[in-house]
Amino acid sequence: MSNTAISVKGLKKSFKDKEVLKGVDFEVRQGEIFALLGSNGAGKTTTVNILSTQMKPDGGEVSICSFDVQRQSDQVRQSISLTGQFAALDGMLTGRENLMMIAKLRGVSKPAQVVENLLTKFSLTDAANRRADQYSGGMKRRLDIAMSLIGKPEVIFLDEPTTGLDPEARIEVWNTVKELADSGTTILLTTQYLEEAEQLADRIAILHDGKIITTGTLTELKAMFPPVKVEYIEKQPTLEEIFLAIISKKVEM
Ligand SMILES: Nc1ncnc2c1ncn2[C@@H]1O[C@H](COP(=O)(O)OP(=O)(O)O)[C@@H](O)[C@H]1O
Ligand SMILES: [Mg+2]
Repeated sequence: MSNTAISVKGLKKSFKDKEVLKGVDFEVRQGEIFALLGSNGAGKTTTVNILSTQMKPDGGEVSICSFDVQRQSDQVRQSISLTGQFAALDGMLTGRENLMMIAKLRGVSKPAQVVENLLTKFSLTDAANRRADQYSGGMKRRLDIAMSLIGKPEVIFLDEPTTGLDPEARIEVWNTVKELADSGTTILLTTQYLEEAEQLADRIAILHDGKIITTGTLTELKAMFPPVKVEYIEKQPTLEEIFLAIISKKVEM
């Protein structure tokens, strides 16, 4: 029994003659928050679409909870949940109704109790009877993440969960994601924000030019770039400096 939740080997995907993924490799351990960090257009959503069985790869092997995404896609779908960049909730329904709808769709036992627990956990109890289209951006995203938790998926994909949110809402969502990790769920998060990866991830993989060019903890990534000694002050490089240094190194090669 392995404790690898996600395994990606040699993943390739092209759109017409545009090669977006050129052999992507990474592994995510059970219970880990793993950030796939890359610029806009790097191929993050393409990767998530393949991992969540919504798109066929051109090559490579991908398994989720030991199930092959192509040959055992039904089992994969039962193990995962996906929250995209655009909230999937129904604005005409209240927060509580949105949760209840999903709880019934997924056939969980004691749906009402599950819904109340989630409302509490995500600080949405006071807003539970308001229509979701009246929620702030941060509340919508929190509700969306709460919906993705129903049925206790083993693996959650969060594709750019804070893109388009203001700084306060972004912090709300960060706190939510941090709490999720405590429940033992495996989270694959994509982001173009270095600070987000730094805040949330146990490990970070940088997707650049169709490949993972570096994987490691923030500490490991920082260790690749020793602090610059300026007189008596040690300056730690920011993740942004590391990212830019890795990319430019790659470009020089
Ligand atoms: N269905 C598609 N058809 C053609 N090109 C696509 C399609 N989906 C994505 N692309 C292209 O693939 C590249 C990677 O896109 P995407 O995975 O959405 O990047 P990211 O999520 O990292 O911003 C982009 O250049 C995008 O235009
Ligand atoms: Mg994307």
